[in-house]
Amino acid sequence: MNYDTLIRNAHVIDGSNAPGYGADVALRGGRIECIGDLSGSRAAHEIDAAGRVLAPGFIDVHTHDDTVVIRQPQMLPKLSQGVTTVIVGNCGISASPVTLRNEPPDPMNLLGNKAAFSYPRFADYRTAVQAARPALNVAALIGHTALRSNHMDDLQRTATAAEIEAMRLQLRESLEAGALGLSTGLAYASAFNADTDEVLQLAAELTAFGALYTTHLRSEFEPVLEAMDEAFLIGRTARVPVIISHLKCAGAGNWGRSPHLLAALEQAAKAHPVGCDCYPYAASSSTLDLKQVTDAFRITITWSTPHPQMGGRDLQDIAAQWGVSLMAAAQRLQPAGAVYYGMDESDVRSILAHPLSMIGSDGLPDDPFPHPRLWGAFPRVLGHFSRDVGLFPLHTAVHKMTGLSASRFGLQGRGEIREGHWADLVLFDAQTVRDVADFNAPQQAAEGIDGVWVNGVLSYQQGGATGQRAGVFLPR
Ligand code: ZN
Ligand code: CU
Repeated sequence: MNYDTLIRNAHVIDGSNAPGYGADVALRGGRIECIGDLSGSRAAHEIDAAGRVLAPGFIDVHTHDDTVVIRQPQMLPKLSQGVTTVIVGNCGISASPVTLRNEPPDPMNLLGNKAAFSYPRFADYRTAVQAARPALNVAALIGHTALRSNHMDDLQRTATAAEIEAMRLQLRESLEAGALGLSTGLAYASAFNADTDEVLQLAAELTAFGALYTTHLRSEFEPVLEAMDEAFLIGRTARVPVIISHLKCAGAGNWGRSPHLLAALEQAAKAHPVGCDCYPYAASSSTLDLKQVTDAFRITITWSTPHPQMGGRDLQDIAAQWGVSLMAAAQRLQPAGAVYYGMDESDVRSILAHPLSMIGSDGLPDDPFPHPRLWGAFPRVLGHFSRDVGLFPLHTAVHKMTGLSASRFGLQGRGEIREGHWADLVLFDAQTVRDVADFNAPQQAAEGIDGVWVNGVLSYQQGGATGQRAGVFLPR
């Protein structure tokens, strides 16, 4: 029997949350063909994986990689972590379907300027991704704020019946063309004034497709439990699964409340499929939001259109240099991006460790001085939180970034090492794997990632991309 690739003597952690086992794994035609003792077999490419872990390629369920998968299809920040699939279109912002009259509203500008939005229909975006041949697989959500910006002249109000009808039609067309579901970003000013009924009506389109609803909650601060209730109501009414994006207790007044949030999540899960994603850091990042400007914790600036040289500096320093208040400095810097050190480490750990949570990076690929989650989220969970802190066993860490994620998002034939599944794989050294990117030097590849296969094609090895780009678009 001749295979394309044979990975020998691996410690296989299969993504199902079961402990690992020793095996050889053979690939052919882009799929995992055989798992077992294959010492009598040969392949064109043979790898001795003794002492290494072979896991399913990681699925980054929370990204803003919509346009970067087309502009920079090598996708090194993600591929170098062992990520083989990204889900784009989170937090209410998606690259399609979008028709802009002016520059994109905040936070759609996280995906680029007006020129980056050239996909009036979801089908156009899908075609563009396929033409770009990214190095990893791409699946996509439709952003509520993107739909609002297409049909509303003023985002500071709820939509009219006619506007909702127009949004529903675009959402339906997108779902027919393979979108996974709908995302909202209700905390942002561009969607905050949308009432629950507006979202309920849009979510009603999801039911017939078996699609899902993901949400950057209306608040991650004190009213976070009420915001979770709103999300669960929307999911229950539309009879669709709900994923709470980057679940957290934001703001000093909210620290220590993670047990309440997790109890609410568990309660909802009894009646209905719900879950959450989270990134393994106690600092968040987004556009610079005046409502979040505070002296209760550190804020650093990641970019600023009028003052690009301030990227990487503390808001406090900038305000001192200019001799103005924090708020006045923030206003001068806008439009801008920021890192907020606004979470408590013990909340981050309890959310990360919860069985309903998945790993999503929420990385911002266009930031010149990005939050380190862009390059480090997955190895940080494997190395820092699983191995060094002992928050959960390695097979549970892997499950939270593979099997659980694939089943939540309906990515069939991925997320587990099983015969017949697509050969999205990562080989790593469990003793040395670690995130190198940090808040001071955020653009660095992880250590300990030895090989990454996408659809059976070796795409990353020994610290560098192979130049092969074998990702595909994954329709629902
Ligand atoms: Zn978000
Ligand atoms: Cu996000």
